[in-house]
Amino acid sequence: MVMKKILYLSITALTLSLSACYYDTEEELYPNSFSGNTDTVNVTYSKTIAPMLAANCNNCHKAGGISPNLTAYASVFANKARVKARAIDGSPSPMPTGGLMNLTNRNKLATWIAAGAPNN
Ligand code: HEC
Repeated sequence: MVMKKILYLSITALTLSLSACYYDTEEELYPNSFSGNTDTVNVTYSKTIAPMLAANCNNCHKAGGISPNLTAYASVFANKARVKARAIDGSPSPMPTGGLMNLTNRNKLATWIAAGAPNN
């Protein structure tokens, strides 16, 4: 009888500890995962990337500011490998300096760079 109760209690504890995982978010579990996010359709430089850089980067990265200037397409294109390293991979340190953008933005930026960073 006592054994049965102990067995029952330990199964309950095990079940509770396993089910705790269901509340974790994808972003917490896979901070650098760029698959499974469908919010990347119709990513264009003019409608998606330029406004994203304006909101997150151009305070610092502009003409007369910190290099590279990320306000014009030609300069963003020329620096796309470094933009990917800093703003997506966070290497050698993340950009923006305060921490990477959210996963949705990083997905869009990664999608655009992977497509060859077109001027669209
Ligand atoms: C608060 C200011 C600030 C913001 C906002 C910011 N950066 Fe930077 N960034 C810097 C500074 C300062 C440096 C130079 C020091 C360094 O390399 O860490 C730099 C360097 C860089 C470099 C150059 C790395 C190299 O190889 O020389 C790139 C690329 C870059 N940032 C991209 C971005 C992108 C993309 C964003 C937006 C997603 C962004 N930064 C937002 C301040 C900022």
